[in-house]
Amino acid sequence: MKRKLLFLLALIVAACPLKADEGMWLPALISQRIADMQAKGFKLSAEDVYSVNQASLKDAVVLFGSGCTGELVSDQGLLFTNHHCGYSQIQQHSSVEHDYLKDGFWAMSRSEELPNKGLTVSFLERMEDVTAAVLKGYKSKMTEEERSALVRKNSDALVKAATAEGKGLRASVEALYYGNQYFLFVYRVYRDVRLVGAPPSSIGKFGGDTDNWMWPRHTGDFSIFRVYADKDNNPADYSPENVPYRPKKFFKVSRAGVKDGDFTFVYGCPGSTKEYVTSDDVRYVGEISDPQKIALRTLRLDIIKKYMAQSQAVRIQYSSKAASVSNAWKKWQGEAKGIAKMKTVAEKKAYEARFRQWAKGTRYDGLLEKLEALYAEREPYYRAYEYYTEAARPTELLQLASNVRSRLDDKAAKDDYVESFFKDYYQPIDEEVFAVLMKAFGEQLSPDFQPAYYKEQMRAYGSAEAWRDDLFAKTLFTDKEKVLALTAADREKVAGDPAVKLYDAFYQWYYNDLRPVINRTGNEINLAYRDYMQGQMEFEPDKAFYPDANLTLRVAYGHVAGYEPADATWYRPVSTLKGIIQKDNPEIFDYNIPQTLRDIYAEGGHDDQPVCFLATNHTSGGNSGSPVINADGNLIGINFDRVWEGTMSDIVFDPDVCRNISLDIRYLLFNIEYIGHAGYLFDEMVFAD
Ligand code: ARG
Ligand code: GLU
Repeated sequence: MKRKLLFLLALIVAACPLKADEGMWLPALISQRIADMQAKGFKLSAEDVYSVNQASLKDAVVLFGSGCTGELVSDQGLLFTNHHCGYSQIQQHSSVEHDYLKDGFWAMSRSEELPNKGLTVSFLERMEDVTAAVLKGYKSKMTEEERSALVRKNSDALVKAATAEGKGLRASVEALYYGNQYFLFVYRVYRDVRLVGAPPSSIGKFGGDTDNWMWPRHTGDFSIFRVYADKDNNPADYSPENVPYRPKKFFKVSRAGVKDGDFTFVYGCPGSTKEYVTSDDVRYVGEISDPQKIALRTLRLDIIKKYMAQSQAVRIQYSSKAASVSNAWKKWQGEAKGIAKMKTVAEKKAYEARFRQWAKGTRYDGLLEKLEALYAEREPYYRAYEYYTEAARPTELLQLASNVRSRLDDKAAKDDYVESFFKDYYQPIDEEVFAVLMKAFGEQLSPDFQPAYYKEQMRAYGSAEAWRDDLFAKTLFTDKEKVLALTAADREKVAGDPAVKLYDAFYQWYYNDLRPVINRTGNEINLAYRDYMQGQMEFEPDKAFYPDANLTLRVAYGHVAGYEPADATWYRPVSTLKGIIQKDNPEIFDYNIPQTLRDIYAEGGHDDQPVCFLATNHTSGGNSGSPVINADGNLIGINFDRVWEGTMSDIVFDPDVCRNISLDIRYLLFNIEYIGHAGYLFDEMVFAD
């Protein structure tokens, strides 16, 4: 009982002020933070932020698709999110005749808005602490398996009861603090969401991968959608009969602008963080995982970039692939550097020494030793697993072989896939990547952990290059016509292909040799963290804890601020159109702005047009598209990135350099007016000032 009480106490003292702007707080518990928020400038109440009794700001925020955030900005379902969040929808509607990615898209009336199959937005109806209900029937004698079964059974019952009404309701029970607390989240999911507007990519993706994760930033990273409902305002499949959704709440737009020090509040769905792990975990991330993954991706990116620079066609084929490879690659660099700079491993070690001392004679005694042993056991397997994902899997030929095999029974689906694969395939890149990564695999991964098949091939061929030449000469998968001709009758032929064999050899190695240990130790580590989390809360009863991100709705508050990226350098927090013009260069793809933007600028008067701004909000992947709100609760921006020097904030937050990057809402308005000529959209928006 005492333990429970202490745990509750730890949650309650979450009311204590935290020194910096660190934290992603649960909206339903925001009353514990509201005094601190108000002290920092926020003018609204806890009920204004989150309420189940009245419309509150949370009703204007949605999970957009399955990995971004969006916000409602009119009483007619108008929604803003990022360009990179709506990218695949914009792309799906694009063709040679209508290249909306390149030229942008603007519906000039409701009838021109474009429906998007599969796209949903989820409104949070309510969230609720259901720990007691989830653990109902729990006895301390239970094994972990019995406990899990009980948690599952009770959770299923809660979800069923919460969604009984139907009407697009979806619910899930999420474990917080490694299963010390459980929350029920009930969403209403709308599935008729139409594209209203998007700037040309040369604005929406301005700066491309060159500027990604960087400041100064000038990306107009927004797209505009509209949520539709049936006549009763309930979710419905797409139908021309549907009408714009009438939200309980939408954001008023502020045109007053931001300045250094202004209060900022990001309301959105961060995906995943791990702030409470041990020094071993952090050491692995910062000293092993990030560096090895960065090195493997550098090899791959260098090859891709070399060919992209040689040919316009290859640049188009590989730009999206290169973007996704380089996004995490750049983030990891900031993360590893940040962990080192913050001395997080040493800090955590010192903390653990104090914890150990305190834990003597308590139920937490020996816990850290247990975690240490589990990490030590897992490490070589996990390391090998990362060579599996970053060196063995990237060869596109192997992906093609496997995906074709699994579609052999459905010729149309297979052929569709094959067409789209070859549209963006450039074999010389794949060949070079294969040889370089296979060489690195052999040189860097301990032979004890290399699969037998790999070692046999390398021995037989003598070099990765010779192996590559033979593989690409013998496989049928380099020949599009042959791949298209395959049918269900060719299963045996496919099974005998060297690309399929190689794919399987790697997969079986992962499945049989690595996965069992990784899964078992992973489960045991998680379990130990349930105790360690509780232990940390008891050990530091005055500290304000927030649960790690898990794509559920969170509040992060901070203020507009620049930072010092390097000695003698200060980054000011607001960028302007002038900076876009300074970067503009028709020769450089990432910086080649549309002529209309040059013309508008040349007319004069737009020098100081704000574009992006920096703030200290604690955000993560998934916060893309999140509304950035001012002290009055009005919309001032849309979150879309962090600065790379601060990406270790998923593990440790450094108030000096952790900054989120937002689009200034006034640049979005500028685009609607001057680029889209869609000023009619202003009529349904409400301007606060
Ligand atoms: N870094 C941002 C995020 O993590 C933006 C990514 C999209 N932009 C890009 N240039 N790849 O999602
Ligand atoms: N661009 C990221 C996203 O798509 C946000 C950047 C980050 O903070 O990780 O969610």
